[in-house]
Amino acid sequence: MIRHLVYSRWLFHHSKSVNTLVCLHGRQTRLLSTSKSSRNIMPAWVIDKYGGDDVLRFTKNASFPIITYPNEVIVQVHAAALNPIDVSMRGGYGASTLSMKRDPLNIKQSGTEFPLILGRDVSGVIMECGLDVKYFRERDEVWAAIPPWKQGSFAEFVVLSANEISHKPKSLSHIEAAAFPYVATTAWSALVNTGGLSKDNCAKKRILILGGSGGVGTFAIQMLKAWGAHVTVTCSQNAERFVRDLGADHVVDYTAGPVEEPLSVLEKFDLILDNVGGETERWALNLLKPWSGAKYVTLVTPFLQNTDSLGIADGMMQSACTMATKALKHLIKGVHYRWGFFAPSGPALDDVRDIVDAGQIRAVVEETFSFSQVPQAFEKLEKGHARGKTVVQIIEERADL
Ligand SMILES: NC(=O)c1ccc[n+]([C@@H]2O[C@H](COP(=O)([O-])OP(=O)(O)OC[C@H]3O[C@@H](n4cnc5c(N)ncnc54)[C@H](OP(=O)(O)O)[C@@H]3O)[C@@H](O)[C@H]2O)c1
Repeated sequence: MIRHLVYSRWLFHHSKSVNTLVCLHGRQTRLLSTSKSSRNIMPAWVIDKYGGDDVLRFTKNASFPIITYPNEVIVQVHAAALNPIDVSMRGGYGASTLSMKRDPLNIKQSGTEFPLILGRDVSGVIMECGLDVKYFRERDEVWAAIPPWKQGSFAEFVVLSANEISHKPKSLSHIEAAAFPYVATTAWSALVNTGGLSKDNCAKKRILILGGSGGVGTFAIQMLKAWGAHVTVTCSQNAERFVRDLGADHVVDYTAGPVEEPLSVLEKFDLILDNVGGETERWALNLLKPWSGAKYVTLVTPFLQNTDSLGIADGMMQSACTMATKALKHLIKGVHYRWGFFAPSGPALDDVRDIVDAGQIRAVVEETFSFSQVPQAFEKLEKGHARGKTVVQIIEERADL
């Protein structure tokens, strides 16, 4: 199914090619827009430098996104959501790697990413399609996880590639839908692409999720239960009822003492998804079934910290060495050590949509803020102890859309 969708999307996106021109405006190089829109500004929350919560600034004059490639669409954002990466990016996390991605030839001066719009999740309506977009139409309701090198969704409009978007589940409102894309595509990438799980091989597999009460955890529990796995979760005591309601079979309270002790007396696991990191790596791999293809996948990696502190080349080299050393150390004990990463993917969201519309996964929206309250939404996220997702409603739902 997913392969078929990827192939049909590929055919659509490569069916024509359009030449785009480059023009120079001072220090900026921009592709000429093929966009029909006559607007050139929009309201958005931006940052003009990296820092704390004081750097967020509301403006009515943010640049309106333009279609520069024929497979792009402009989406009117109805709802967005926050993720820990928004707080980290606001402080400059990943700036080196993301700058390289935005400007691979290093033509622009540093700081040209500003004014930067944060926000990785969007649920909204397509306002305009590029010439090669055939799989989507104007007015389609879509959801997407926005790559961190692109302008984000704390704005009225955002431009995305058609292969990053997906038709949103019909059963969800925009607010509910915005709670999914970034955590769903991250969990999908970690569990399916890196962990090798699928709906056909999950039945009765024993999975451990370290950190089950946040955005990634609440999605992963539900997806794995929909696929028939046995799911054990660690969380704090006051989240036990919450994760059990989402389907967790066994819950271990990490605040009651060293969590590895109650976990070590349980039957060993086929896969561990680590949303916590740090100390967990010392003991978690001992909980895997050895010599059976069992995998530990952690989402907490030093990849971007390394490129931030050492530069792109040295940072990537350092990451490759760390990853290879750890993988080898654990391979000789018969278990696999892996890093998991967010990967934007419309086709993955297509599959998630089917599970959501089948009623097997529900949105876990902890709190909703209005567009004017984006700084308050950041404050809430920074307090930690998430129980699902923090969502921002950008525009009121309209009955005619
Ligand atoms: N590599 C990637 O591309 C990628 C992508 C997405 C996310 N991530 C990372 O993955 C992690 C999870 O993301 P998220 O969006 O789910 O974060 P989140 O929504 O902030 O949730 C974190 C959850 O972990 C719980 N927690 C904290 N310490 C814990 C511990 N020692 N044991 C068990 N639970 C604990 C928190 O609740 P309590 O504090 O109340 O227990 C909270 O519910 C973050 O570190 C994030 O940066 C990485």
